[in-house]
Amino acid sequence: MIAILSDLHSNLEALLVVMEHCQKLGVKQYLCLGDVIGYGPDPVSVARIAKNTFTTSLMGNHEEALVTERHRFNPHAAQAIDWTRRCLQVAGPDLMHWFTERKPFALHGRLLMVHGSIYDPVHDYVDEPENPIEAQQMIETLNTDFSGFDICFAGHNHTPFMATTMGVMVPHDGHPTFRIPKGHKAYVCVGSVGQPRDRDTRLSFATLDGEELTFHRLPYDVAKTQAKIKAAGLSSFLAERLGQGI
Ligand SMILES: [Fe+2]
Repeated sequence: MIAILSDLHSNLEALLVVMEHCQKLGVKQYLCLGDVIGYGPDPVSVARIAKNTFTTSLMGNHEEALVTERHRFNPHAAQAIDWTRRCLQVAGPDLMHWFTERKPFALHGRLLMVHGSIYDPVHDYVDEPENPIEAQQMIETLNTDFSGFDICFAGHNHTPFMATTMGVMVPHDGHPTFRIPKGHKAYVCVGSVGQPRDRDTRLSFATLDGEELTFHRLPYDVAKTQAKIKAAGLSSFLAERLGQGI
């Protein structure tokens, strides 16, 4: 069984819950789709776990902003990434060096991993299927542009769902597991560990066991992370959004 995580965003409380749960499940390998850091209050601890534990960890747009100092962030995110850079620099050169070496995509057999989308693996968003026209376009993408791989795991939109050639499926507590038969095409957006944005405050990630894909939603100590964000002097909006799942 492999676990696919994305958008940890320096949220240590959420990540520790993920790791404990995955150990119980018997996860053998951790694949991370990027945005290990940014927004949250524990960049050094979260980066150390990522560096030591994850087989693959991609370059997300926050890693890119971290190492290049170039971005188009809103003021909340911009302040947080500058603060994050200072924290990592104080912690020593190894973590900053590790972030510099991140790759924008990875291919593991029939699995493609990106942070954004297949068209721009760092910045593009897989659109949430809010209307049938966009959903139909996404399904056509599966038929026309998924070549050399079957399943593309994506992050960045912080929202869990799956698109297959049969339609779009949104997981919920009563139906978290789906089967993706060999050779079928699917876009799998795994949601966010550290900053969910689907109005559900619980952390989100996915596991893949053979053909069986499961979306996981777990509670963590949101209030503790919020207090740390405020204590670090980061934007109070970044704390508030965790309490709303936005
Ligand atoms: Fe993100």
